[in-house]
Amino acid sequence: MCGIVGYIGKKEKKSLIINGLKELEYRGYDSAGLAVLKDEELSFFKAVGKLNNLANKCENFESNGLGLAIGHTRWATHGKPNEINAHPHLGQYSCVIHNGIIENYKELKEKLEKEGVSFLSQTDTEVIVALFEHYAKNLEAWQAFEKCVHELRGAFAILLISKKDKEKIFFAKNAAPLIVGKNAQNELFFSSGDAPLIGHCEDVIYLEDLSFGYASKDELTIYENNKLKTPVFTKLPQDKSYAQKDGFRFFMEKEIYEQSRVLSEVLMGRVEGGEIVFDELKDENLKELSEITLCACGTSYHAALASAYLFERVAKVKTKVEIASEFRYKDALITPNSLFIVISQSGETADTLEALKIAKQKGAKTFAICNVDNSSIVRLAHLSILTRAGIEKGVASTKAFASQMLTLWAISLYIAKEKGFDIHEHLQALLHTPNVVVVSPTLHERIRRLSKRYLDGHGFFFIGRDVFYPLALEGALKLKELSYLHAEGYASGEMKHGPIALADSKLYTIALMPQHLLYEKVKSNVEELIARDSTLLCISALDFDLSDDLIKINPQKHYMNEFFEMMLVLQLLALEISIRLGNDVDMPRNLAKSVTVE
Ligand code: G6P
Repeated sequence: MCGIVGYIGKKEKKSLIINGLKELEYRGYDSAGLAVLKDEELSFFKAVGKLNNLANKCENFESNGLGLAIGHTRWATHGKPNEINAHPHLGQYSCVIHNGIIENYKELKEKLEKEGVSFLSQTDTEVIVALFEHYAKNLEAWQAFEKCVHELRGAFAILLISKKDKEKIFFAKNAAPLIVGKNAQNELFFSSGDAPLIGHCEDVIYLEDLSFGYASKDELTIYENNKLKTPVFTKLPQDKSYAQKDGFRFFMEKEIYEQSRVLSEVLMGRVEGGEIVFDELKDENLKELSEITLCACGTSYHAALASAYLFERVAKVKTKVEIASEFRYKDALITPNSLFIVISQSGETADTLEALKIAKQKGAKTFAICNVDNSSIVRLAHLSILTRAGIEKGVASTKAFASQMLTLWAISLYIAKEKGFDIHEHLQALLHTPNVVVVSPTLHERIRRLSKRYLDGHGFFFIGRDVFYPLALEGALKLKELSYLHAEGYASGEMKHGPIALADSKLYTIALMPQHLLYEKVKSNVEELIARDSTLLCISALDFDLSDDLIKINPQKHYMNEFFEMMLVLQLLALEISIRLGNDVDMPRNLAKSVTVE
């Protein structure tokens, strides 16, 4: 998502910051900015779009000699990607950059507004600098910063500079990465990732959560959990591509591991005081909805299929699902008072975009569930909800799918609540989901070892029922995208109507057997396959003696939590099989991340 760099030293600061931000470009961003504090002067620049735009804006600016500099690339979460919302955010004499989400920004903003503070941007970040300056009226800068940090809730990596104390960069870190680096020339660096630091410094500190402090030319003060900590530096690995992948072998693997954090971000600000909140939907009357159509391609289509079960079961709205390339030409009927929701990671998929245009022309109310703000689909739809997955580099979608599923599930709960249904159990499960997708080393190792048995055969069937049927489709898609082996997803009750004819020991069946949804039904379907000698890999929280292999998931209380854990297993299985086959995991043959042609 966003990127942060900071610097204290004598080198030319503008180019140092822009070059640092370039190293974080791979994370994706839609605007950028920088600020330099030297002597009495605080200079700042912001630009929408690529870093070149920022470089053009400050073409004639240079800053040599001892000073402070901070820079940021922003991926919009609160507020559009425009210059006002780009970081740094300014107060009267200070400015701040921030990654993450300040969960309680609304209450802080209201409190400050009552004190007469006015805000320019729609971001959560601006409250940080406003709160700091509010306290700095009566306190020293460091004390004001400390007080300010103690009031922030949520995820943040923050750098703040202020004319009130021209020698220090103030920093804070909780649940978002922040690294401090130093070199032999006594320069200090900050960054949200290793890559910008490589070549500039050899020694780093990866700050722990609940850390804050300040740095100057001669001093680094860190508090962790409110206790003063002696800074202990470690050696920085010097391989850039390794650094961009945070040490993972592939971007896809990194993205699988990121899912827990991403899902926490999806939920930020969306569940408050036991209530589900969607600011984007507050002016919509969703109680009277007669029908929902979900429309998408590829993995996003699978998210549509799975969430359709939830819209019907939980929100009790009639829901149908359309493949965008089919919808375009079928002359579909749009019922009044119906809602047309397109789902797209990129927001640029040609078929989905066209389907959206058609539905809109026919008078449907349209929503976009999308990962990229300002994309064509977001711009066209009446209303959009961002999935907050951050840039996804692996062509095969993982964290984007997870974020779509969680967002759609949350929307179904929002509608259910509007209609007065009890959503308590679902809400508990929704909140628990980020914990379910944490990758345990034991699980990953078990899947890695098992994968060697599944490298050949004449085909794979992924089977499941209910929401686990679309998940089976997605598991099969992941495997075929990455391994080039033939894989199909099937509703497990359908196997007996044809596909079972293929069953023999070289037909591999991956069975999704959730404890809390139709377990006995899936079990009988699996037994039918075992009787025909198919090789069975079962994924379940329960023991199942008849299967050839079993991947045990953790016991969960809700079937949707089982859904997300099984999703993780299927992603890791496709990854490990593909690695063993020597394929290019991040860029499988013949595939494109964003398909902008019909
Ligand atoms: C391509 C990608 C898939 C993706 C599909 C839809 O085929 O390879 O991973 O699911 O497009 O993309 P969208 O950006 O609309 O979700």
